[in-house]
Amino acid sequence: MIILGIETSCDETSVAVIKNDLLAANLISSQYFHKNYGGVVPELSSRAHLQIINPLVKSALEKSSIQLDDIDIISATAGPGLIGALLVGLTYAKGLSLSLNKKFVAVNHIEGHIFSGFLMKEKPEFPFICLVVSGGHTLLLLVKSFTEIYKLGSTVDDAAGEAFDKVSKLIGLGYPGGPKIQKAAEKGDPNRINFPIAELKEPYNFSFSGLKTAVLRYVQQQGGIQKIDEQHIFDIAASFQSAVIKALIQKLKKAIGNFDVKSVSIVGGVAANSLLKEKAEQLSSKYNLKLVIPSLEFCGDNAAMIAFRAKTLFENGITHDLNYKPYPSLDENSFLSL
Ligand code: KG4
Ligand code: ZN
Repeated sequence: MIILGIETSCDETSVAVIKNDLLAANLISSQYFHKNYGGVVPELSSRAHLQIINPLVKSALEKSSIQLDDIDIISATAGPGLIGALLVGLTYAKGLSLSLNKKFVAVNHIEGHIFSGFLMKEKPEFPFICLVVSGGHTLLLLVKSFTEIYKLGSTVDDAAGEAFDKVSKLIGLGYPGGPKIQKAAEKGDPNRINFPIAELKEPYNFSFSGLKTAVLRYVQQQGGIQKIDEQHIFDIAASFQSAVIKALIQKLKKAIGNFDVKSVSIVGGVAANSLLKEKAEQLSSKYNLKLVIPSLEFCGDNAAMIAFRAKTLFENGITHDLNYKPYPSLDENSFLSL
């Protein structure tokens, strides 16, 4: 069985091929030009996807040594994401599926992330606790099978990745925020500033907007960003990063303690963070759990996870018709009740 996966939900165009259970290609083209604007510009993103999608599909087919007609299933991200960007990949996939008369599977981007650990050699074992930390979402889930995903909690405001991006901009480190903050934090003192970690009534929910405001206030108290020297910026980055990771690990620990699971998987762009990895390793070894964090290629947005999710949906009897519409935001309840 050959599956083509297409991902265009934000600032990465990606095309992947899964051929007989093996990943034959996972090409990712990142739109670095957004850094000139301090964040993703939706219209420019759509145009860039449109320019690159066809050559990228051709390269993925070449790399996999297959022809278009060899494909059995064509899949694409349908949401959540930037609507114009989603439209490019989804419409392209639907067009291919119509012209080649192949099955079509629309994939939820977050579900793609949830099962991205299965692209690794060491895979999660069901049931597992999954922490999704991407640019737009922070979710804590209990995953019992490919069709049973239960939400334990989510962020009540900003996503963890969003907090990294906003704080990075605020302290002058720019876009993309996560990697920039991590790099600066390596040279900083995480104990210099005691940024707050939100206390919430719901045990598995997160909140990062207070933390972001605390960084803003701190910068203002110093007289603005121009008055802060480089070492001080590194210390702010390290203190902020430490607070975000503490909040994530706290909730993860609670979930691990309360559910009888075999594995833990941390997925999405923020899962690339080295401090989060280090703390998660300590936690999982304490509880004797298998920890699966995808490699960098599969943490960020990629089509391999889309093709893999399409495969699991297809194997559970799910395909979609060509009227399937893209959706900008996550209906947290719809993707849980397959
Ligand atoms: O999953 P993803 O690639 O895109 C979305 O679906 O949103 O996640 C992107 C997010 C961005 O907010 C980015 O700043 C964050 O992941 N990120 C990181 C790191 N690398 C990427 N955050 C913290 N540390 C990193 N090393
Ligand atoms: Zn993502």
